[in-house]
Amino acid sequence: MNVIRFQDLIVQGRVAGRRVFIRADLNVPLNDAGQITEDTRVRASLPAIRMALDAGAAVMVTSHLGRPTEGEFKPADSLAPVAARMAELLGRDVPLVANWVDGVDVKPGQVVLLENCRVNKGEKKNNEELSKKMAALCDIFVHDAFGTAHRAEASTYGIAQFAPVACAGPLLAAEIDAISKALANPKRPLLAIVAGSKVSTKLTILQSLAKNVDGLIVGGGIANTFMLAAGLKIGKSLAEPDLVGEAKAVIDAMQARGAAVPIPTDVVCAKTFAADASATVKAATDVADDDLILDIGPQTAATLAAQLKAAGTIVWNGPVGVFEFDAFAKGTETIARAIAESPAFSIAGGGDTLAAIAKYGIEKDVGYISTGGGAFLEVLEGKTLPAFEILARRAAQP
Ligand code: 3PG
Repeated sequence: MNVIRFQDLIVQGRVAGRRVFIRADLNVPLNDAGQITEDTRVRASLPAIRMALDAGAAVMVTSHLGRPTEGEFKPADSLAPVAARMAELLGRDVPLVANWVDGVDVKPGQVVLLENCRVNKGEKKNNEELSKKMAALCDIFVHDAFGTAHRAEASTYGIAQFAPVACAGPLLAAEIDAISKALANPKRPLLAIVAGSKVSTKLTILQSLAKNVDGLIVGGGIANTFMLAAGLKIGKSLAEPDLVGEAKAVIDAMQARGAAVPIPTDVVCAKTFAADASATVKAATDVADDDLILDIGPQTAATLAAQLKAAGTIVWNGPVGVFEFDAFAKGTETIARAIAESPAFSIAGGGDTLAAIAKYGIEKDVGYISTGGGAFLEVLEGKTLPAFEILARRAAQP
């Protein structure tokens, strides 16, 4: 994908003394006391800010926080905790500026944080007047918010249309590169793991990947529906029987391309959904009417691990079992460790997947960990994200 990169503008000496507007994704979780409970997104925003400051720009940064009502600012919507954390991490003042749409006072070498952009009227609907006002604040617009790349809002899309220059920040550029490497030009075999509770929430992803991947590993409740489609009994496990037809169609589409959806040959069952429930390994053909399947079995996990270690590229979204309960975590752990050990380029994304990566401490062994939730899922669905579309269009303009 051809987009202008902020790094290139710096190398070309086009940033010094310029007004740079960075759209980051600083939508962090806060506790009831308004404290940040997880600051990955603040940390992820720092390289772009440091690059801009080092290059001598006047730096404005903004983000949404939550889903506030436009035009009705409440203290709970404030980016104040983010400004404080950013100041700590940068080791410098980060003033928080409210009511900034009509003008911002910031000098070269300074950084300011512009208050929650989703409080501005017209933000969500990508209002043209608001977009033009924001674009007028800057010489260079830097989109560095992959987490919102699937949204076409005034601070993510409209401003990119009207700013004198619109480019991808280092975080967004890294996501673009990893996604291209995994899905557009993958080293084969390309294996995808799509797991989660419901086929319905990931059906479009399964259908899209079925056109591209060499192996489609399903897990969790999704695998249960695929087991039904393969004619297996799943007892009282979580599944969506009305989507068995769609699951069969995915299996058929893969088979027609000479590819496969591996169906579990053994599973770990319990009689109740509880951390202390007793776990029994069974052949996939032996599941009883009162069984709940809560993980893939050791034979299935070993087979999948061997495939993952022989892969060229791996895309991972979702744990294959109830990995929060230790008795049902072995499948996800085996998969995680196989990905870590595989020479394949791997990309992982999604909240539960990130939690599994953290649980097994394999962060450094995954090729790329996406910062996007909904945005990552839309990439897997094969959609062109609005952020990518507008930045590519601006790069193509003379
Ligand atoms: C996220 O948390 O996934 C992003 O910040 C996007 O947030 P949104 O779904 O409220 O647009």
